[in-house]
Amino acid sequence: MARTAILNVMVQAAMKAGRNLVRDFGEVENLQVSRKGPGDFVSAADRMAEEIIRTELVKARPQYGLVMEESGEVEGTDGQHRWHVDPLDGTTNFLHGIPIFAVSIALERQGQIVAGVIYNPVMDELYTAERGRGAFLNDRRLRVAGRSDLPEMVFGTGLPFIGKGDHGRALKELRYFMPEVAGIRRYGAASLDLAWTASGRLDGYWEHNLNSWDIAAGLLMVREAGGYVTDTDGKDKMLETGNVAVGNEFAHKHILRLLKQAKS
Ligand code: IPD
Ligand code: CA
Ligand code: CA
Ligand code: CA
Repeated sequence: MARTAILNVMVQAAMKAGRNLVRDFGEVENLQVSRKGPGDFVSAADRMAEEIIRTELVKARPQYGLVMEESGEVEGTDGQHRWHVDPLDGTTNFLHGIPIFAVSIALERQGQIVAGVIYNPVMDELYTAERGRGAFLNDRRLRVAGRSDLPEMVFGTGLPFIGKGDHGRALKELRYFMPEVAGIRRYGAASLDLAWTASGRLDGYWEHNLNSWDIAAGLLMVREAGGYVTDTDGKDKMLETGNVAVGNEFAHKHILRLLKQAKS
């Protein structure tokens, strides 16, 4: 399916920023790094990628609002549209030389996410989705995994680190999942956890306390790939709570059940 003009703008911005990230990744030891909080880093690469994306998006749609991880929120003049931008999702991986990171850009229109792009520049994997038009990895249409047996399923999740709360909850959740599933992965980039669920690599994924820029594009991708998408209580409050539970019909049902058990 041909991409719409606006999706093309997003793709160009993500790929331009992604190429820059790969260059910086090659010289990561020379990058300036600062700490926003315990375990929460930002580097010159994050800021440069964000600047590249901002320039492209503002050039194409100067009237739209922006929600960007590193530079915050800018209200738009049209009051209808907002971009959600994570210029480098997986900063900790990036700074440790682990090649699992991505650029994530989503477009919200009147409260709904209508387009999303996630670009993993190391693997040169471009994930795109538009509301009602499907999700794609490069040119291939995506479909969530088809497995229905929990013991065969592999799940992604995120774990809180220093400076974050809820360590006890995370341990308890793992305690419930581990004995029932084929595997659990912690890749360290929420956008890719979602993209990989959309592409069927992961059967499902859950995580708490994320931000709109981490998940807006990926949630649309999973839904457009036929997946089930809710917050961790089974409600429709993903962007408000930052909590997500996604997967095919079966994986999603099991995630909600196991999370409920872990809570009791
Ligand atoms: C982080 C990653 C990670 C998730 C963290 C996020 P960042 O984003 O998505 O997987 O567990 O909560 O903050 O800071 O690398 O863009
Ligand atoms: Ca960050
Ligand atoms: Ca992020
Ligand atoms: Ca980031």
